[in-house]
Amino acid sequence: MSEKEISIGLFGFGCVGQGLYDVLNHSQSLKANITTIGVKDHSKPRKIDASFFTFKKEDILKRDDLDVIVELIDDAEEAFRIVSTAMNNGVNVVTANKKMLAENFQKLYELQEQNNVALLYEGSAGGSIPIIRNLEEYYDNELLSSFRGILNGTCNYILSRMELESKDYSEILKDAQASGFAESNPWLDVAGFDTLYKTILLTVHSFGLILKPEQVLNLGIQNITFDDIVYAREKGLRIKLLGTGYKSGNEFRVYVMPHFVEKTDELYNVIYEYNGVEVEGAFSCKQTFVGKGAGSHPTGSAVLSDISALTYNYKYAYKKLRKLLNGKDKRVNGEQLDNNFSLKVYIRFREKEELKQLEILNIEEEYRSARTNYIVATVTLKSLFCLKGNKESKLFVCAV
Ligand code: HSE
Repeated sequence: MSEKEISIGLFGFGCVGQGLYDVLNHSQSLKANITTIGVKDHSKPRKIDASFFTFKKEDILKRDDLDVIVELIDDAEEAFRIVSTAMNNGVNVVTANKKMLAENFQKLYELQEQNNVALLYEGSAGGSIPIIRNLEEYYDNELLSSFRGILNGTCNYILSRMELESKDYSEILKDAQASGFAESNPWLDVAGFDTLYKTILLTVHSFGLILKPEQVLNLGIQNITFDDIVYAREKGLRIKLLGTGYKSGNEFRVYVMPHFVEKTDELYNVIYEYNGVEVEGAFSCKQTFVGKGAGSHPTGSAVLSDISALTYNYKYAYKKLRKLLNGKDKRVNGEQLDNNFSLKVYIRFREKEELKQLEILNIEEEYRSARTNYIVATVTLKSLFCLKGNKESKLFVCAV
């Protein structure tokens, strides 16, 4: 693309779409113009002129004068249809739809290759933090060994306010929804699915490994109680929902789980809707990126940065992914993922019966009272998969 004004076709005018609109209007350097906005709801009042909007996606997808299609809708399946049609039409796409990306990553990678188009998605993980491009480019030659990230603003906001204001989980979840951080289905936030999708994206750009959401364990904070916060506080710890990825030789451990973090941990002071990602490389050692992980303008600014990157023909090079695909290790479909290990966890339970489904190797500590019961034990990661997205279970599990 040249210096000419960029024509954008936008899908979605919710929290992030409006954020992009505002950020774009304040941009001094980028000459870009939103031509048409595709939306679904006929009755919603909107803050800009009705002439901008269409209710038919073809009105945007069939135009041949657009430089980029920006997809910011809520529905992941419809988003995939829009994004793949645009790419097959040879148009570059910017999206922030982590669920759509994580569920369809292999296919979306192939579409980029086949159509020689760019698909950029910095806003999909870490909100305003420029983590994806950094992992892809800056750490390109570095032997990255791990990442650990607070990747969900809603959960971090809930955990911070529970601890700092001694408030209940349900009361604060409502505030997070009102602030525009939470997904329209907040189960995706609190049960760790949103963190899972973002973790899958960071795994691609850290290590070159494409994993499917069903292969990776995600446990959330949906069962947390104030007793868990008190347990952590008494030990000088904080609870953080982390998406983590560790590389050891050609094997990878990737999972999402609440963790106790110590005061000396860089992620301890990342609070409210802020996100933080710590990466560790062989030579750079540990580095931490911190920024607003959710919200209209922070995410809108990441989307704008992608649009701007397209003006100098930027595409993810996927060097680590290509290296893994073309390397000697012929394992496919994420078989390099190791879920067969044990780890130490705190488990709060009501009835001991509930623990039977887990493979508990060793109980180090057990506490029972009229109010709360917990154990600190070593369990196998694979046995925790029965808790993934399980609405029946009331166990709260936190890595020690
Ligand atoms: N619901 C997400 C969060 C929005 O709370 O982090 C940003 O991806």
